Amino acid sequence: MKQERLEKLLNEMSLSEKIGQLIQLSGDFFKSKDISFGPIQKLGIPDKLVDLSGSIMNVTGAAETQRLQKQQMAKQPHHIPVLFMSDVIYGFKTIFPIPVGLGATWNPELIKEAFKVAANEAAVSGNQVCFAPMVDVTHDPRWGRTLESPGEDPYLNSCFAKAMVEGLQEQLPNKKGQVACVKHYAAYGAVEAGLEYNLADMSMSNLFQNYLPPYKAAVKAGCKMVMASLNTLNGVPATANKWLLTDLLKKQWGFNGVIISDYASVYELIKHGFAADEEDAAFKALDAGIDIDMKSPVYANGLQKLVENGKLSITKINEACMRILQLKNDLGLFENPYFGSSEIEEHEYTLSDDNRKLARKVADEAIVLLKNNHQVLPLSSNEKVALIGPYGDEKSLIGMWAVHGDIKDCVTIKAALSSILGTNLGYAQGTDITRDKQMLAGLGFLNEERISRIVSDDETENQNHQAALSLAKKAETIILAVGENVFESGEAGSKTNLHLPKNQVKLIKDIHNLGKKIVLVVISGRPLVLTDVIQDVDAVVESWFPGTEGGNAIADVLFGKVSPSGRLSTTFPFTEGQEPLYYSHLSTGRPQKGSQHVGRFVSRYIDAPNEPLFPFGYGLSYADVKYSDLQIESDALNESDNLRLSIKLVNDSQWSQKETVQVYFHDDVASIVQPVKRLVSFKKVTVPAKTSVRVTFSIPATDFSFFDNTGHPKLEKGSFHLFIGPNSNDVITKEFQII
Ligand code: NOJ
Repeated sequence: MKQERLEKLLNEMSLSEKIGQLIQLSGDFFKSKDISFGPIQKLGIPDKLVDLSGSIMNVTGAAETQRLQKQQMAKQPHHIPVLFMSDVIYGFKTIFPIPVGLGATWNPELIKEAFKVAANEAAVSGNQVCFAPMVDVTHDPRWGRTLESPGEDPYLNSCFAKAMVEGLQEQLPNKKGQVACVKHYAAYGAVEAGLEYNLADMSMSNLFQNYLPPYKAAVKAGCKMVMASLNTLNGVPATANKWLLTDLLKKQWGFNGVIISDYASVYELIKHGFAADEEDAAFKALDAGIDIDMKSPVYANGLQKLVENGKLSITKINEACMRILQLKNDLGLFENPYFGSSEIEEHEYTLSDDNRKLARKVADEAIVLLKNNHQVLPLSSNEKVALIGPYGDEKSLIGMWAVHGDIKDCVTIKAALSSILGTNLGYAQGTDITRDKQMLAGLGFLNEERISRIVSDDETENQNHQAALSLAKKAETIILAVGENVFESGEAGSKTNLHLPKNQVKLIKDIHNLGKKIVLVVISGRPLVLTDVIQDVDAVVESWFPGTEGGNAIADVLFGKVSPSGRLSTTFPFTEGQEPLYYSHLSTGRPQKGSQHVGRFVSRYIDAPNEPLFPFGYGLSYADVKYSDLQIESDALNESDNLRLSIKLVNDSQWSQKETVQVYFHDDVASIVQPVKRLVSFKKVTVPAKTSVRVTFSIPATDFSFFDNTGHPKLEKGSFHLFIGPNSNDVITKEFQII
């Protein structure tokens, strides 16, 4: 539709029609099947406004979205099509590894391809907007949504933000792909104590340096929508934070797309104690910049009155409405309201062999080998293997936020291993995932009947344990597949205990006592505390929730079809008492190492090390690539120069290796204390077997700037240290100067 016609349409619309565009409701309002997660309440929205609602969330399926589109357009006086929006966070039906695993690939180009597939599967099913990418930087795995984020580093998350937005949106002109909606703006990953929906409070320098860059990168990549977060930021809820939404996002960053609230968060302004009532909440959210009120009664019941009593100018509503109409028009919905939906393609494209192949490839790269004593891995198909543990034959490998995925499509570890090992494979469940019925009841998704199905009675548990031990005795190698229950991570999955459940630890210890080779495969939505079991096993394979092709990918790594290349994008703590624990912390005046003080009065725990169990960037491979000969072209740069450096990688092994070369730096003296290390660049390169390669970098000097407390970048002259290596710990160092 031409711009003039769009403007004419806006002029012709009644106030209720305009308000309708600013409301998003879920499928149940339209008698459609709905899979929303979130508090459910009767909203008290008049039927007329429900009919005028401009977007519908979490309804998919070509036939159903087409039916609903027809139904809703007929009800609207100007026959405006609705937008279908949905949570497609790491796959639609073909589910990729959870994002903390995507982060561990350190391969944004590959993830761009994965997001293209996710977007196309969603598009053929009639969806147009994905509530993704989620790029909240998080430092605390107690937070359940650690699952959903690529990790703890702002630079790495920014690279993924760009790739994910491009992957989602690239094919929009061909009526494929999805509109990206970056979330959760802002600093949701900094919720205090890892407690869900809690406050985030921080200095401006910290906010600009560590939390804002990924959202900004998404906006720069052309992301058409932004979702405000559920938390307060420095005391002001993000949903009504005019500085965040208007001054920074729109005015400074130039974002001119649509801003949506998170689920019910406009209403929650009242609960926060930031708005007195629905009218007040409606005013504050719209005035701050929220265009669409997701699943709350506030815009529906508050905006009309605000305009009628003169408290709100109609211009504000017109502007918000126009942004939504504009998005619909950009997608061509006025001409083709069904966008890319197609029952035929839905059938042919969704979960196709190619899509599965890509999911497997991504999962291969997401898996992180954390320990491999005496090279027990890779295994050989001639070995007699016992697969033991509650995840051995478990289909629930897609994680909590794959709301459209179906676990029945998953390849289990057992299925994948038996195709390699045949009769050399034995299997025993050994124990349940968890036996804590009270905890399971608290997860919110499991009723008593389901819990009693997943927690065995004591006698069965004992039999399972004994059966596992006798199977283990007969095997040469034991693969122990353990982990968290799927609902323990994801939204509202905050935990204070990050250990494996006691029953699983007991199984590991008892099997350890048999003196066999043990490979621990961990399925989890976050870094767990593995300290109490790490000595009992020979190898540890962190597999996250690896997705639809999870079993195959785990087998690829265990049997050496690929040499593991995943590297942690989140620190693995020694104990949860260290949290928030992250590699890029500031130095204290009394650091544990290098302080002038000795003994007690340094920054340390008296009952635990300061160091993590596994640092950021860490991961082993079957090849052992050695780093040497770091060269810097010039060690004195001015602001407009680039730091050109190179490093030699030597691969003496028989394995071709995908190696992630990580570049960090430290600004030695600055007017705001700087992190001990900060990632500034990386490259994932292939080092073929028995060869050496030289990897080069050219880093603009301005990338060594930091943000001050007014949110401005500063590059201060003086000495810097450069660190380069395979992870944040094992690095080669050189000094350079900014002059
Ligand atoms: C609440 C979550 O915070 C958000 O990530 C999600 O997109 C919405 N619910 C919609 O389901």
